[in-house]
Amino acid sequence: MNKTKDLPVSEPINIALIYGSTREGRFCDTVAEWAAREIRGTDGFALDVIDPAKLELPGRIEEEDSPAVTELHKRIEAADAFVVVTPEYNHSFPSALKFVIDLVSEPWQAKPVGFVSYGGVSGGLRAVEHLRLVFAELHAVTVRDSVSFASAWDLFNEKGELIEPDRPRRTLARMLAQLAWWANAVRERRHASPYEKVAG
Ligand SMILES: Cc1cc2nc3c(=O)[nH]c(=O)nc-3n(C[C@H](O)[C@H](O)[C@H](O)COP(=O)(O)O)c2cc1C
Repeated sequence: MNKTKDLPVSEPINIALIYGSTREGRFCDTVAEWAAREIRGTDGFALDVIDPAKLELPGRIEEEDSPAVTELHKRIEAADAFVVVTPEYNHSFPSALKFVIDLVSEPWQAKPVGFVSYGGVSGGLRAVEHLRLVFAELHAVTVRDSVSFASAWDLFNEKGELIEPDRPRRTLARMLAQLAWWANAVRERRHASPYEKVAG
């Protein structure tokens, strides 16, 4: 088990890890599976993996939620914190991820969000910076530290393992500690006094 520094929890923090790519042949599986393994191996967290490619989401926002959208809503609601695994597409994040974000509203509020990004030279950081603006609109709090893989396909072996894992593991541990801090700070408060009342 990895130890998350200063994690003062009695109950596990429910993290929803969200896949940012639904592309056929996507590299997202490799990066998201690495992050999921690390989180599962860290004390204090329970993990729900949300892969939009496995949900039968509609092609557009509909007036009535389909069962898949209702399920997505419940899973986002059940989460205390989020880890978004995103590639960079044309200097931003994929539209498939934006669609998932746009399908729900209140369940994002007053919760922390961390990022694992990947791509070419920028390591997906431009996607992450755009996502910070999107999550601010949703009253979610993005944490500073994120894991970023530039030329990601060169960094993992054929088994999906990182060739040099130490630095990304350290960065992920720091990001998880930040998520835990925020999740613990707001979890009870969210239940005691629902954030919708001040969200406007
Ligand atoms: C439509 C598209 C646009 C892309 N644009 C960028 C880009 O702006 N910057 C970058 O670093 N990589 C870019 N890439 C490379 C992707 O980050 C890389 O292919 C990554 O593996 C895509 O994630 P996925 O395989 O999980 O879908 C782009 C890839 C696609 C498919």
